[in-house]
Amino acid sequence: MAPPSTTNPKFLIAPSILSADFARLGEEVRAVEAAGADWIHVDVMDGHFVPNLTIGAPVVKALRPVTKLPLDVHLMIEQPERYVKDFCAAGADYLTIHVEATREVEKTLREIRSLGVKPGITLRPRTAIEDIFPYLKLVDLILVMTVEPGFGGQSFMADQVEKIHKLKVELRRLGHTALIEVDGGITDVTAREVREADVLVAGSYVFKKDYATAIRSLKEAKC
Ligand code: DX5
Ligand code: ZN
Repeated sequence: MAPPSTTNPKFLIAPSILSADFARLGEEVRAVEAAGADWIHVDVMDGHFVPNLTIGAPVVKALRPVTKLPLDVHLMIEQPERYVKDFCAAGADYLTIHVEATREVEKTLREIRSLGVKPGITLRPRTAIEDIFPYLKLVDLILVMTVEPGFGGQSFMADQVEKIHKLKVELRRLGHTALIEVDGGITDVTAREVREADVLVAGSYVFKKDYATAIRSLKEAKC
């Protein structure tokens, strides 16, 4: 008999503030919370690991009192170990690092946990999913990128979907229950291709529409 599925019945939705109006960031976060968002996804880019620059820990700190939702911080930065303390102190709930960004993956994940924050790991589309297998037991969140990290509004890469299934199988083998999150090109249509995931990040799809309608359509894409 197949083991019971640990998959949640509905997706959790994490709007990415990268597509929000930065001049009204606090209002935008309140608005997606009121519209049914479960987490707030914060994309941190350094202009080195990815060719784009966004925000740093002071913005996370400024958002912390604005929302009760978990702040899901995705670090797209080289040597993230340099900034872990800052983001943890600023109020991140989940702090996710790229496996390609440091030689000290295990140490950095352990440091995040020691600071009372949930560690996450992620990988670029061209990185094999097996490259993160040694770290799965150290994390609460695994982020599968379905676009090349760096920009919002790109098209979903369907060839990344099989990674989600491989992850599920490996997590089951390990007897470990981390959440699987998917990030990039998520719409009500592409969400149906990643039903084995638990959390969906969506930037342009949420912020270009009526927020509540967009979030509802994503949650229900799993049913
Ligand atoms: C890309 C970021 C994503 C991005 C998603 O580097 O990690 O979180 O904001 O944007 P959409 O949903 O528009 O693809
Ligand atoms: Zn992201």
